[in-house]
Amino acid sequence: MSEKPVYKRYTVTSALPYANGPIHIGHLAGVYVPADIYVRFLRMNGEDVIFIGGSDEHGVPITIKAMQQGVSPQDIVDQYHGIIKKSFEDFGISFDIYSRTSNKMHQETASAFFRKMYEAGQFIEKVSEQYFDEATGQFLADRYITGTCPHCSFEKAYGDQCEKCGTSLNATDLIAPKSVLSGNKPVLRETRHWFLPLDVYEPWLREWILEGHKDDWKINVYGQCKSWIDQGLQPRAVTRDLDWGVKVPVEGAEGKVLYVWFDAPIGYISATRELTPDWEKYWKDKETKLVHFIGKDNIVFHCIIFPAMLKAEGTYILPDNVPANEFLNLEGDKISTSRNWAVWLHEYLEAFPGKQDVLRYVLTSAAPETKDNDFTWKDFQTRNNSELVAILGNFINRTIVLTHKYFDGKVPPVAEYTAIDKTTMEEMRQFPVRIAQSIQNYRFREALAEMMNLARLGNKYLTDNEPWKVFMNDPVRVGTVLNVSLQICAQLSIVAEPFLPFSAAKIRHTLHLDLMSWQEASSLTWLTAGHQLEQPELLFQLIGDGPIEAQVQKLMDTRIANEALQDKAPVKPGKAAIGFEDFAKADIRVGTILEAEKVAKTDKLLRLKIDTGLDQRTVVSGIAKYFAPEEIIGKRVCVLINLEARKLKGIESQGMILMAENPDGTLFFVTPGDGAMNGADVK
Ligand code: 2FM
Ligand code: ZN
Repeated sequence: MSEKPVYKRYTVTSALPYANGPIHIGHLAGVYVPADIYVRFLRMNGEDVIFIGGSDEHGVPITIKAMQQGVSPQDIVDQYHGIIKKSFEDFGISFDIYSRTSNKMHQETASAFFRKMYEAGQFIEKVSEQYFDEATGQFLADRYITGTCPHCSFEKAYGDQCEKCGTSLNATDLIAPKSVLSGNKPVLRETRHWFLPLDVYEPWLREWILEGHKDDWKINVYGQCKSWIDQGLQPRAVTRDLDWGVKVPVEGAEGKVLYVWFDAPIGYISATRELTPDWEKYWKDKETKLVHFIGKDNIVFHCIIFPAMLKAEGTYILPDNVPANEFLNLEGDKISTSRNWAVWLHEYLEAFPGKQDVLRYVLTSAAPETKDNDFTWKDFQTRNNSELVAILGNFINRTIVLTHKYFDGKVPPVAEYTAIDKTTMEEMRQFPVRIAQSIQNYRFREALAEMMNLARLGNKYLTDNEPWKVFMNDPVRVGTVLNVSLQICAQLSIVAEPFLPFSAAKIRHTLHLDLMSWQEASSLTWLTAGHQLEQPELLFQLIGDGPIEAQVQKLMDTRIANEALQDKAPVKPGKAAIGFEDFAKADIRVGTILEAEKVAKTDKLLRLKIDTGLDQRTVVSGIAKYFAPEEIIGKRVCVLINLEARKLKGIESQGMILMAENPDGTLFFVTPGDGAMNGADVK
């Protein structure tokens, strides 16, 4: 790669979570905690940095959820945007702005971005065949269609991706495709769309990533990019036939919106515009370092598609790095929103009030930086009790308590440094530099481990010097030992800040120190003799078995509920909305079955005579397997009477009886309440 640029400022983005569910520990460990550590560190370095977050409020999973709940997509995103934003705030993720993609600024920004590319002729306009659901009269984009993955034979792959093998798919690749809306087999129908010709950018991407970022991008990120590019890039549709999203700002594109993955990353730009009128310097100045924090499932979009869009648009900078993490599992299983297999942030904050830093610590220690990793509640408890309490908390607490005991809480003066003091101080001096290097290289686990090593150094220093034994004979020496120990506490309050901001603030409060810059962390004499300390404050508390067992039990309950659900056939998904006029066309009446008999040569059909209040008519019904003729004579039913007559086994059927069908196929009559007369209108 050519010379590394020298940067003047930073734009740090974190993947915009879909606003169709709350935040869980997988999101936190993969994206938000590392991004927050990085940004807090940069701020302490006095860098000009903006940290961008927001909700991704478009896409089919949101419209499907809305449909299932019978509410509008806007209702869904309003609800989850609120929950997500609050939980991030409470957890201390220090965004400069947390925005959302359904707002006006984003609609305008994404629209203008598309329009500029469109006017410069950077899209291919193409009529292609896409799946269409005839029952609901709509095209089936992305997750509206499922089928078998052609790569791994997973039967529930989506039209845009197989979640089992991770392959990105086109709906037409699926074997045995099925509409999520009606369950029917869809048909192919022509529709016009705009495609981003990724093939055109292939030589440039090859050079920019495969040559330019071979040494500085993480191996997992580089590897995925290489595999994508080596397979050959194809034009990719950036519009969809949907009505929820950013409208395609082109004439003749009614009923079409931008593909969610086209508009979402532009959301980073929209949020910056909302944050500051000076937004362009964060996106268009080559002296700005752009860094995207994401999970591994977002790599292709942030390393290939979005950069190709930025390059095509022409006025934007490109990411300097995309430090994507692998996935965090939970107690050995993949985290899943739909299976409720997760630790939800808002629930954690309620169950463990004031323990934000414990979760930040555990998630950073177990961060899936190079491979998938597992979160277990047992590990959570051990790391809290054996590391935060026993090492960091213990060191700070011992030092402050001893200073109060022997020196009235005032920093004692140094008499003379011994060899052990000098070595300790020399070791201390190295920590901020080492931690900074790890953070700058996106190795947050390593950085955190170093921070804890500093606390270990402090503990060892105290233990080796035994001030509690020495004080009787040599209080002056104890003064020096506690002075050195207090300087370590002060240094910890600085270097712990990016990782454990709540605890670092508590340490500073006890030490009566303001937040200092990272550079000051290498100087060793912030606390001058005579400086008064506050009383110690407990930094971390032991977590007993009770709360841990409660969390494990909660997961076990989820597992049992999931297994029970698996045994049951799933309830059919809802159908697309219809207008009242459509519903009002159906003429449904209360009736009584007067006669019932089996239709010859079939084991499915019964011929019924029904009194509809208007007339007595024949209805042929496919219920013979479930009901004997004699048991249903006299039964009160609801009948659709204006269904076109049709012949079944030679008998003209003049209507249809309303039945309720369970997912396992069992049938039940929909019966009118007592007092409803034959002929009563069902509406
Ligand atoms: O995977 C996801 O959760 C996406 N909503 C991430 C979008 S990142 C960016 F492009 F907005
Ligand atoms: Zn697959």
